[in-house]
Amino acid sequence: MITKILFDTDPGIDDAMALLMLARDPRAELLGITTAFGNAPLDLTTANALALCERFNIGAPVARDVAQALHQPPGRFPTEVHGADAMGNIGMPMASSRREEALPAPQFIAEMARGHSGELPIVAVGPLTNLALALQHDPALVEHVKAGVVMGAAFGENGHRGNVSPVAEANIAGDPQAADQVFIARWPVTIVGLDVTHEVLHSTASLDALGCEGGAEGAFIREITHCYEHFQLSRSGNGVFSHDVGAAASALDATPFTLRRGPVRVATGGVAVGQTIQMRQGERFVADDRDDTPAQSICIGVDPPRLRAEFRFCFVG
Ligand code: BDR
Ligand code: CA
Repeated sequence: MITKILFDTDPGIDDAMALLMLARDPRAELLGITTAFGNAPLDLTTANALALCERFNIGAPVARDVAQALHQPPGRFPTEVHGADAMGNIGMPMASSRREEALPAPQFIAEMARGHSGELPIVAVGPLTNLALALQHDPALVEHVKAGVVMGAAFGENGHRGNVSPVAEANIAGDPQAADQVFIARWPVTIVGLDVTHEVLHSTASLDALGCEGGAEGAFIREITHCYEHFQLSRSGNGVFSHDVGAAASALDATPFTLRRGPVRVATGGVAVGQTIQMRQGERFVADDRDDTPAQSICIGVDPPRLRAEFRFCFVG
């Protein structure tokens, strides 16, 4: 089965890995790309998306978001993780001919979803501003989008906590209000958080092998991940976590993941800003105002060898 995909992204090293996977995976048909700020300012993430499309002949149109979160001032960008250019400081050439769409991303999302009503999942791997604005622009969107698959959040499962604070993950912390709006909307969302992405390490040896055997894309992935690997070395040992690849893989086939259902809310202020909390089905608390909030799915378990194999298959076969 071929799954049509709309990819919302802030490239970013693991974003580039996920984009190349979606472009090459025989199970996927990449219909559109929308860019978000996050790993770098919006101008740069948009330029990176266009450069990746031009370099790897990815025909999907690219539309850009607004440049900052709904209600919070711009934060700092993680140059120590993704490099000053958010693409691993390899000197990737910018696109010479690819141009972005005139339509802003929220409107672009609404048009795409209506044009492919009921069959288009949105895979969102940056701050969720685009999706929240698309919902504000077109509230009936919830009836047209097949599913949202979000890389973000940290629920404390498998011993994994936040990566920008003890409780907050970067994409959710990038725009907590937007994330909360996306999670409480009446559409089905699957959340692929650090609870599972921190379980899937791509070793240095596997990246080296991909670089040798994976053609132009594999060689590129090996090149950009050196920077990412250097950052993760002090935290995880040799290798990289490919967070956004997890969301892409889950949109194509969720069976490598264990899911748990229940409403999800985001702390939008205070010391825990960006924290994601799931109310488990059947759970009741005295101070509970979430009875009307729809249940969403969060990933609490994953099959790491299977995910690594699916990723490698896209480039090596
Ligand atoms: C997420 O934050 C970004 O740095 C990555 O691209 C990923 O989407 C991981 O917390
Ligand atoms: Ca990302």
